[in-house]
Amino acid sequence: MADLIDLRSDTVTRPTAGMREAMATADVGDDVYGEDPTVNALEAEVAALLGHEAALFCPTGSMANQIALQLLVPPGNELLCDADAHVVTYEIGAAAAYGGISSRTWPAVGADVDPDAVAAMIRPDGYWAVPTRAIAVEQTHNRGGGGVIPLDTLRELRRVADDAQVALHCDGARIWHAHVADGVPLATYGGLFDTLSVCLTKGLGAPVGSLVVGSADRIERARFVRKRMGGGMRQAGVLAAAGRYALAHHVDRLAEDHAKAARLAEAVAPFGVLATGVRTNLVPLDLTKAALDAHALATAARAEGVLVSVLGPRTARLVTHMDVDDAAVSRAIDVVTRILRG
Ligand SMILES: Cc1ncc(COP(=O)(O)O)c(C=O)c1O
Repeated sequence: MADLIDLRSDTVTRPTAGMREAMATADVGDDVYGEDPTVNALEAEVAALLGHEAALFCPTGSMANQIALQLLVPPGNELLCDADAHVVTYEIGAAAAYGGISSRTWPAVGADVDPDAVAAMIRPDGYWAVPTRAIAVEQTHNRGGGGVIPLDTLRELRRVADDAQVALHCDGARIWHAHVADGVPLATYGGLFDTLSVCLTKGLGAPVGSLVVGSADRIERARFVRKRMGGGMRQAGVLAAAGRYALAHHVDRLAEDHAKAARLAEAVAPFGVLATGVRTNLVPLDLTKAALDAHALATAARAEGVLVSVLGPRTARLVTHMDVDDAAVSRAIDVVTRILRG
């Protein structure tokens, strides 16, 4: 798809020459024996960045989320999250299928979480109802248009979780984007959660890899759960090397992707299709009042070399990332606005 401008997701990036070089020259060992020096280094780096004791390298963000949820919520107990959360929308029922976890959701509000409304949903321990054991939030929020949950809201949620003695998990697949958008240190985010999952493949350019982050005890158990789920990897240092490279070279540059998304948002705004305020690299389009639906937009754009995501019959999405430069964004603006104009 080299000649296409691919705005479907920030997961479509390809490893750069520098990243491939780091992968090719990585020191490796058998990680199931704990002997891969590059994996060990990545885990230590990510734990330190988020201000936690330990981290565990996983193949995917979905596995990292599900391992964390299994650590926090025993079978038959309850997780609270929002109705649009990745963990209950795109992980194919994994919390129920693998963890026996009962999930209950608050209405989809993206990053506009109301801590009082969450507090009101918590069910206490006891044998008459499903006890709530954990709350999960998503930073940034994928279906919430890349929205950033404000730090004060997260602090309030921490208080709610502490008062109710339940755990707080962050699906931080794009926590780097929140950090760059709001300038909140990663360790400040980290300190608010019992566990986090973070992804190296969402905008950071790595081909594979996510981590679960938490206390040393929890990550010891996480290693066990990962193995049970078939996620024990061997010479994974070639992949961890890509992740270390991504963290060293591709976090600060996310500001460029946010600026490109802001340009796209500004260009489509006059057509009344912008679904939310754009803070990071995701530009959600609400085509409810448009002349064409999401499928028609995506088909017409593809015919002109621009790939757009279809998230629903009248919901589309444009995503900026390191493989689309300013010229490509200008070209995409041209194509998309021409189609919207009709
Ligand atoms: C918010 C969020 N969490 C988790 C994931 C899962 O990541 P993976 O595709 O690596 O399983 C994604 C993927 O896009 C995501 O957007």
